[in-house]
Amino acid sequence: MLAVKVPKREAEKVRRKLIDLGVLAKGYAVKREGEFILFPVTGPVEGFELVEAEFERLERKPHSYREVVEVPDEVRGLLPSSLDIIGEVAIIELPEELMPYGKAIGEAILKVHRHIKAVFAKGSKISGEYRVRELIYLAGERRTETLHRENGIRLKLDVAKVYFSPRLATERMRIFEKTHPWEVVFDMFAGVGPYAVLLAKKAKLVFACDINPWAIRYLEENIRLNQADNVVPILGDVRKVAGKFEADRVIMNLPKFADRFLREAMLSVRDGGVIHYYGFGPEEDLFSEHEAKIKAVARELGFGVEFRGERKVRPYAPRQFNIAIDFQVLK
Ligand SMILES: C[S@@+](CC[C@H](N)C(=O)[O-])C[C@H]1O[C@@H](n2cnc3c(N)ncnc32)[C@H](O)[C@@H]1O
Repeated sequence: MLAVKVPKREAEKVRRKLIDLGVLAKGYAVKREGEFILFPVTGPVEGFELVEAEFERLERKPHSYREVVEVPDEVRGLLPSSLDIIGEVAIIELPEELMPYGKAIGEAILKVHRHIKAVFAKGSKISGEYRVRELIYLAGERRTETLHRENGIRLKLDVAKVYFSPRLATERMRIFEKTHPWEVVFDMFAGVGPYAVLLAKKAKLVFACDINPWAIRYLEENIRLNQADNVVPILGDVRKVAGKFEADRVIMNLPKFADRFLREAMLSVRDGGVIHYYGFGPEEDLFSEHEAKIKAVARELGFGVEFRGERKVRPYAPRQFNIAIDFQVLK
């Protein structure tokens, strides 16, 4: 192929010039010839010595497992473009048609993402009180415990025993940014502590409750790992704890059932305190149903509410979103 031949000492300057001109051929290794360097080019370039040369092709690193996985052509279009990466574990949602190729898909993921050690497929929807799902082993190590890094904290957890979604990292950071150093925070559905441990870096005190004993076990470990000694882990049903203290900020990250716990949340927040409520809403009307429930519970308790912010957190299902509503309670 066509090449530009330049003395070694000019090589870097010429390389940049060829890039600027858009003529440097991609995917080839440059060649050395004594005191000269040869750059492969896509066409003639004025002002340089041009020669014919053969170049070695560079192996491009694949960006996605989809580039390396071997599956029949008729199902290739069904390969998901995204997967959840939690520490060294990857979890992928495969349609029925792709399940027979689960092993090949898992191995392709391991090949492309070198830091991943185990790959699982989602085996069910998130369900039950603990909000966990079944997992189907695809490839790599048969382990579900891992260490995940997020927002500058380390979280140890078992993806088969507790709820955890890396897709909420941005939302957690948003709440962190709103938090003040003098605040008492109540994380009603704390899981392994992605909110509680993060907010503890800023807040005075964080009460973190969960009904799943595994979640609390990992939360305790995460408190140690992050020296978050101002987090108070509470194992049990939040209904038994609510109202026992007054928080400045309450987090209700149980989108499926948060509406059932509004009374407990409002009884646990001080006058003027803020509640971060999460739910699911249809695309055409994301917030109305939740707002109505919030107003109804406040009315029953003789409190006022001021809505402070509403947003889509992430897509949840076709035309459904995980939403957040921030509101202030006036007592
Ligand atoms: C959607 S997860 C959220 C966990 C965590 N906040 C996170 O972001 O990873 C909801 C959590 O609420 C807990 N939970 C469900 N019902 C509860 C209750 N009545 N009292 C306390 N915790 C509860 C579940 O065990 C689960 O860990």
